[in-house]
Amino acid sequence: SDIGKGTYPFYMLKEIDEQPTVMRHLISEYADENGAMKVDADIIKAIQASDRIYIIAAGTSYNAGFGAKQMLEDLTNTPVELGVASEWGYGMPLLSQKPFFIFLSQSGETADSRQVLVKTNELGLPSLTVTNVPGSTLSREATYTMLIGAGPEIAVASTKAYTGQIATLAFLAKAVGEAEGNEKAKAFDLVTELSLVAQSIEASLSEKEAIANIVKERLLETRNAFYIGRKQDYYVAMEASLKLKEISYVQCEGFAAGELKHGTISLIEKDTPVIALISNNPEVAAHTRGNVMETVSRGAAAIVIAEEGVAREDDDIVVNAVHPYLSAISMVIPTQLIAYETSLQRGLDVDKPRNLAKAVTVE
Ligand code: G6P
Repeated sequence: SDIGKGTYPFYMLKEIDEQPTVMRHLISEYADENGAMKVDADIIKAIQASDRIYIIAAGTSYNAGFGAKQMLEDLTNTPVELGVASEWGYGMPLLSQKPFFIFLSQSGETADSRQVLVKTNELGLPSLTVTNVPGSTLSREATYTMLIGAGPEIAVASTKAYTGQIATLAFLAKAVGEAEGNEKAKAFDLVTELSLVAQSIEASLSEKEAIANIVKERLLETRNAFYIGRKQDYYVAMEASLKLKEISYVQCEGFAAGELKHGTISLIEKDTPVIALISNNPEVAAHTRGNVMETVSRGAAAIVIAEEGVAREDDDIVVNAVHPYLSAISMVIPTQLIAYETSLQRGLDVDKPRNLAKAVTVE
């Protein structure tokens, strides 16, 4: 590609830094000057006519689907089911009466996802591809397309496409919800809230040095690690652990904080890093803190990433508060930087991890 890295040592860091711009671009793309949604009316109607949304994706895009699930359900009054593309390609579960399929794909070229799209097209079912690449295969073959417009993503490990996908789905969710007369959708001031997200991202991006130190002290030597969280934070934990695995080769599990004690906690040893994600949901936060203590009492080296509102003095990283629907975007930023720093400090090729490709066009 002729897209330069500028002064950046790696594309991944450049792409992480671009995320506030991506958020602001999406505001200008999907809202007018008065804050009204600019989403294709046909997409809105098709979702209104459906009784269930199926999100199909792979890798980081699959995790982005989870990051948007609760918001989509709340605002559209429609149940959302997630499907791993490589599983669904070889047999779909029992579908609802009127399914609507959303394909999430940065590249728009993932063969596993396309395999499912071929099936939904055979069944004559409506579909939307949310992608970063105009004219990509999944875009051409789906009924509708929404573009993330994040600009080319070169690093194999996806960052701005994840946050961009969730933000794009926020515009979709609000637009459908408003058409449905959903009160929560009407009250959700997405333009303002996403501007606050951009600011929260900027604040986290200014914490690079602190994050580099945390990595140096607690992640540099480890073979394994855990991310834990509840609800929305659990979904972010899945993405955070994938990112760390991909580029630092640390074996990492993203776990539902409360589920750890039902088996997996046996893996906690002295100094095992346990990174807790605690967003601004007081009820959930208290429980996750309890789970952190369970691991610390078994020797874990806890790292707490908490959102303003539930953060404590001695937390390692504090994230500026955003609307709960959008917390997956702001909470993932420190975890992207943790993955980046761990890979960098281990002397690995951050942008081109072994065994991985940017887009996988084989099944
Ligand atoms: C590959 C990449 C991942 C990516 C996944 C899905 O495996 O290495 O980073 O998340 O494909 O890609 P897509 O382009 O469909 O979002």
